[in-house]
Amino acid sequence: MRTPLIAGNWKMNKTASEAARFARELVQSPLSTAAIDIVIAPPFTALAAVRDVLGETSPIGLGAQNLHWEDRGAFTGEISAPMLKDLSCRYVILGHSERRAQFGEQDDLIRKKILAALTHGLNPILCVGESLSERESGATNAVIERQLKGCLTGFEPSQLGPLTIAYEPVWAIGTGKAATPEQSIEVHQLIRRTLATGWTTSVASGTRILYGGSVTPQNVESFLASPDIDGALVGGACLQVDSFASIVRLAQTRIGH
Ligand code: PGA
Repeated sequence: MRTPLIAGNWKMNKTASEAARFARELVQSPLSTAAIDIVIAPPFTALAAVRDVLGETSPIGLGAQNLHWEDRGAFTGEISAPMLKDLSCRYVILGHSERRAQFGEQDDLIRKKILAALTHGLNPILCVGESLSERESGATNAVIERQLKGCLTGFEPSQLGPLTIAYEPVWAIGTGKAATPEQSIEVHQLIRRTLATGWTTSVASGTRILYGGSVTPQNVESFLASPDIDGALVGGACLQVDSFASIVRLAQTRIGH
Protein backbone atom coordinates (compact mmCIF):
# COMPACT_ATOMS: atom_id res chain seq x y z
CA MET A 1 0.00 0.00 0.00
CA ARG A 2 1.58 3.27 -1.11
CA THR A 3 0.81 6.29 1.06
CA PRO A 4 0.07 9.25 -1.22
CA LEU A 5 2.49 12.16 -1.00
CA ILE A 6 1.99 15.85 -1.73
CA ALA A 7 5.33 17.66 -1.84
CA GLY A 8 5.89 21.38 -2.26
CA ASN A 9 9.07 22.46 -4.05
CA TRP A 10 9.59 26.09 -3.11
CA LYS A 11 12.58 26.49 -5.45
CA MET A 12 14.46 29.78 -4.81
CA ASN A 13 11.55 31.50 -3.07
CA LYS A 14 11.01 32.96 0.42
CA THR A 15 13.48 34.31 2.91
CA ALA A 16 13.77 32.56 6.28
CA SER A 17 11.31 35.00 7.86
CA GLU A 18 8.81 34.61 5.01
CA ALA A 19 9.20 30.85 5.29
CA ALA A 20 8.55 30.91 9.06
CA ARG A 21 5.40 32.96 8.45
CA PHE A 22 4.24 30.44 5.83
CA ALA A 23 4.90 27.53 8.20
CA ARG A 24 2.98 29.23 11.03
CA GLU A 25 0.00 29.80 8.72
CA LEU A 26 0.20 26.23 7.44
CA VAL A 27 0.10 24.68 10.90
CA GLN A 28 -2.79 26.96 11.85
CA SER A 29 -4.79 26.17 8.71
CA PRO A 30 -7.43 23.45 9.01
CA LEU A 31 -5.19 20.77 7.56
CA SER A 32 -5.49 17.14 8.45
CA THR A 33 -2.49 14.96 7.80
CA ALA A 34 -4.53 11.76 7.86
CA ALA A 35 -3.80 9.12 5.23
CA ILE A 36 -1.29 11.22 3.38
CA ASP A 37 2.33 12.33 3.59
CA ILE A 38 2.98 16.05 3.24
CA VAL A 39 6.40 17.52 2.53
CA ILE A 40 7.57 21.09 2.12
CA ALA A 41 10.97 21.80 0.61
CA PRO A 42 12.12 25.37 1.34
CA PRO A 43 15.53 26.75 0.31
CA PHE A 44 18.48 25.70 2.51
CA THR A 45 18.51 29.07 4.26
CA ALA A 46 14.94 28.62 5.50
CA LEU A 47 15.13 25.00 6.68
CA ALA A 48 15.99 25.82 10.30
CA ALA A 49 13.28 28.49 10.55
CA VAL A 50 10.64 26.13 9.18
CA ARG A 51 11.86 23.29 11.40
CA ASP A 52 11.54 25.55 14.44
CA VAL A 53 7.90 26.30 13.59
CA LEU A 54 6.91 22.75 12.65
CA GLY A 55 8.78 21.05 15.47
CA GLU A 56 10.90 17.97 14.99
CA THR A 57 8.06 15.47 15.13
CA SER A 58 5.61 17.30 12.88
CA PRO A 59 3.55 15.16 10.50
CA ILE A 60 4.54 17.69 7.85
CA GLY A 61 7.93 16.50 6.60
CA LEU A 62 10.77 18.85 5.86
CA GLY A 63 12.61 18.42 2.58
CA ALA A 64 15.65 19.95 0.88
CA GLN A 65 15.97 20.66 -2.83
CA ASN A 66 19.48 19.31 -3.36
CA LEU A 67 22.57 17.99 -1.59
CA HIS A 68 26.24 17.28 -2.22
CA TRP A 69 27.21 13.60 -2.31
CA GLU A 70 30.18 13.95 0.05
CA ASP A 71 29.66 14.33 3.80
CA ARG A 72 32.09 17.22 4.22
CA GLY A 73 35.16 18.84 2.75
CA ALA A 74 36.38 21.47 0.31
CA PHE A 75 33.16 21.98 -1.68
CA THR A 76 32.53 25.71 -1.43
CA GLY A 77 28.86 26.59 -1.40
CA GLU A 78 27.61 23.03 -1.02
CA ILE A 79 25.42 21.33 1.62
CA SER A 80 25.74 17.67 2.67
CA ALA A 81 23.29 14.98 3.74
CA PRO A 82 24.47 14.99 7.40
CA MET A 83 23.89 18.76 7.51
CA LEU A 84 20.33 18.24 6.28
CA LYS A 85 19.70 15.42 8.74
CA ASP A 86 20.89 17.65 11.55
CA LEU A 87 18.17 20.15 10.55
CA SER A 88 15.53 17.38 10.82
CA CYS A 89 15.14 17.06 7.05
CA ARG A 90 13.49 13.82 6.04
CA TYR A 91 13.32 14.22 2.26
CA VAL A 92 15.49 15.59 -0.51
CA ILE A 93 14.50 16.40 -4.10
CA LEU A 94 17.21 15.17 -6.49
CA GLY A 95 17.69 15.44 -10.23
CA HIS A 96 15.16 18.23 -10.74
CA SER A 97 15.13 19.30 -14.39
CA GLU A 98 16.20 22.83 -13.40
CA ARG A 99 19.35 21.37 -11.83
CA ARG A 100 19.92 19.13 -14.84
CA ALA A 101 19.46 21.99 -17.33
CA GLN A 102 21.00 24.93 -15.47
CA PHE A 103 23.69 23.25 -13.40
CA GLY A 104 24.66 20.42 -15.74
CA GLU A 105 23.65 17.61 -13.38
CA GLN A 106 23.77 14.26 -15.10
CA ASP A 107 22.48 10.85 -14.16
CA ASP A 108 25.75 9.49 -12.69
CA LEU A 109 26.09 12.51 -10.42
CA ILE A 110 22.45 12.24 -9.35
CA ARG A 111 23.11 8.57 -8.55
CA LYS A 112 25.87 9.62 -6.13
CA LYS A 113 23.47 12.06 -4.49
CA ILE A 114 20.81 9.35 -4.10
CA LEU A 115 23.41 7.13 -2.45
CA ALA A 116 24.35 9.92 -0.02
CA ALA A 117 20.68 10.49 0.81
CA LEU A 118 19.99 6.80 1.42
CA THR A 119 23.19 6.37 3.43
CA HIS A 120 22.10 9.13 5.80
CA GLY A 121 18.45 8.12 6.08
CA LEU A 122 16.98 10.83 3.86
CA ASN A 123 14.12 9.87 1.51
CA PRO A 124 15.09 10.87 -2.03
CA ILE A 125 12.49 12.23 -4.44
CA LEU A 126 14.09 11.54 -7.82
CA CYS A 127 12.78 13.69 -10.69
CA VAL A 128 12.71 12.39 -14.24
CA GLY A 129 11.11 13.87 -17.33
CA GLU A 130 11.49 14.59 -21.01
CA SER A 131 11.83 17.94 -22.78
CA LEU A 132 9.32 19.14 -25.35
CA SER A 133 11.58 18.25 -28.27
CA GLU A 134 12.18 14.79 -26.82
CA ARG A 135 8.41 14.24 -26.54
CA GLU A 136 7.78 15.57 -30.03
CA SER A 137 10.42 13.30 -31.50
CA GLY A 138 8.90 10.25 -29.81
CA ALA A 139 11.83 9.82 -27.42
CA THR A 140 9.90 10.09 -24.14
CA ASN A 141 10.11 6.44 -23.14
CA ALA A 142 13.79 6.15 -24.04
CA VAL A 143 14.61 9.29 -22.02
CA ILE A 144 12.72 8.13 -18.94
CA GLU A 145 14.31 4.66 -19.06
CA ARG A 146 17.77 6.17 -19.53
CA GLN A 147 17.31 8.54 -16.59
CA LEU A 148 16.00 5.79 -14.31
CA LYS A 149 18.78 3.38 -15.18
CA GLY A 150 21.44 6.08 -14.99
CA CYS A 151 20.29 7.31 -11.60
CA LEU A 152 19.47 3.96 -9.99
CA THR A 153 22.05 1.55 -11.40
CA GLY A 154 23.92 -0.33 -8.72
CA PHE A 155 21.30 -0.02 -6.01
CA GLU A 156 20.01 -3.23 -4.49
CA PRO A 157 16.21 -3.59 -4.38
CA SER A 158 16.47 -3.63 -0.59
CA GLN A 159 17.99 -0.11 -0.64
CA LEU A 160 15.17 1.47 -2.63
CA GLY A 161 12.36 1.39 -0.04
CA PRO A 162 12.68 5.11 0.82
CA LEU A 163 12.72 6.19 -2.86
CA THR A 164 9.97 8.30 -4.43
CA ILE A 165 10.03 9.11 -8.14
CA ALA A 166 8.47 12.26 -9.58
CA TYR A 167 7.57 12.27 -13.26
CA GLU A 168 7.95 15.90 -14.29
CA PRO A 169 7.78 16.59 -18.02
CA VAL A 170 10.05 19.60 -18.51
CA TRP A 171 7.55 21.27 -20.83
CA ALA A 172 4.91 21.22 -18.08
CA ILE A 173 7.02 22.83 -15.35
CA GLY A 174 6.07 26.41 -14.59
CA THR A 175 4.25 26.76 -17.92
CA GLY A 176 0.65 26.38 -16.82
CA LYS A 177 0.41 23.55 -19.35
CA ALA A 178 0.16 20.40 -17.25
CA ALA A 179 0.41 17.02 -18.93
CA THR A 180 -2.90 15.25 -19.34
CA PRO A 181 -3.60 12.53 -16.78
CA GLU A 182 -3.39 10.04 -19.70
CA GLN A 183 0.10 11.21 -20.66
CA SER A 184 1.16 11.00 -17.06
CA ILE A 185 -0.35 7.54 -16.48
CA GLU A 186 1.44 6.20 -19.56
CA VAL A 187 4.81 7.30 -18.19
CA HIS A 188 4.02 6.16 -14.64
CA GLN A 189 3.29 2.69 -16.03
CA LEU A 190 6.54 2.75 -17.98
CA ILE A 191 8.40 3.70 -14.79
CA ARG A 192 6.84 0.75 -12.96
CA ARG A 193 7.73 -1.63 -15.79
CA THR A 194 11.32 -0.34 -15.78
CA LEU A 195 11.55 -0.82 -12.01
CA ALA A 196 10.13 -4.34 -12.34
CA THR A 197 12.58 -5.44 -15.02
CA GLY A 198 15.63 -3.60 -13.66
CA TRP A 199 15.00 -4.37 -9.99
CA THR A 200 12.03 -6.38 -8.66
CA THR A 201 8.25 -6.40 -8.91
CA SER A 202 8.07 -5.39 -5.26
CA VAL A 203 10.25 -2.33 -5.93
CA ALA A 204 7.90 -1.57 -8.84
CA SER A 205 4.74 -1.92 -6.79
CA GLY A 206 6.13 -0.30 -3.64
CA THR A 207 7.69 2.86 -5.10
CA ARG A 208 5.62 6.01 -4.97
CA ILE A 209 5.41 7.83 -8.29
CA LEU A 210 4.27 11.45 -8.26
CA TYR A 211 3.24 13.71 -11.11
CA GLY A 212 4.73 17.21 -11.25
CA GLY A 213 4.34 20.12 -13.65
CA SER A 214 1.77 22.93 -13.29
CA VAL A 215 -0.26 21.07 -10.66
CA THR A 216 -2.96 23.33 -9.18
CA PRO A 217 -6.01 22.95 -6.93
CA GLN A 218 -8.02 22.94 -10.17
CA ASN A 219 -6.33 19.97 -11.82
CA VAL A 220 -4.90 17.88 -8.98
CA GLU A 221 -7.97 15.64 -8.69
CA SER A 222 -7.78 14.64 -12.33
CA PHE A 223 -4.30 13.22 -11.68
CA LEU A 224 -5.06 11.60 -8.37
CA ALA A 225 -8.12 9.85 -9.78
CA SER A 226 -5.70 7.29 -11.23
CA PRO A 227 -4.32 4.52 -9.01
CA ASP A 228 -1.09 4.87 -11.00
CA ILE A 229 -0.45 8.39 -9.65
CA ASP A 230 0.58 8.45 -5.99
CA GLY A 231 0.63 12.18 -5.41
CA ALA A 232 2.09 15.40 -6.74
CA LEU A 233 5.25 17.48 -6.67
CA VAL A 234 3.99 21.04 -6.70
CA GLY A 235 5.99 24.17 -7.53
CA GLY A 236 4.19 27.47 -8.13
CA ALA A 237 0.94 26.43 -6.42
CA CYS A 238 2.71 25.47 -3.19
CA LEU A 239 3.89 29.00 -2.43
CA GLN A 240 0.58 30.19 -0.97
CA VAL A 241 -0.78 28.42 2.08
CA ASP A 242 -4.33 28.42 0.68
CA SER A 243 -3.54 26.71 -2.59
CA PHE A 244 -1.09 24.22 -1.05
CA ALA A 245 -3.59 23.32 1.68
CA SER A 246 -6.36 22.94 -0.95
CA ILE A 247 -4.20 20.54 -2.93
CA VAL A 248 -3.58 18.48 0.21
CA ARG A 249 -7.30 18.44 1.06
CA LEU A 250 -8.31 17.45 -2.48
CA ALA A 251 -5.79 14.62 -2.36
CA GLN A 252 -7.31 13.40 0.90
CA THR A 253 -10.83 13.55 -0.55
CA ARG A 254 -9.72 11.30 -3.36
CA ILE A 255 -8.28 8.83 -0.91
CA GLY A 256 -11.49 8.89 1.12
CA HIS A 257 -13.41 7.44 -1.86
P1 PGA B 1 5.38 23.89 -11.15
O1 PGA B 1 6.78 23.23 -10.73
O2 PGA B 1 4.32 23.25 -10.28
O3 PGA B 1 5.54 25.35 -10.88
O4 PGA B 1 5.17 23.57 -12.60
C1 PGA B 1 6.89 21.86 -10.40
C2 PGA B 1 8.31 21.50 -10.13
O5 PGA B 1 9.22 22.07 -10.75
O6 PGA B 1 8.59 20.64 -9.27
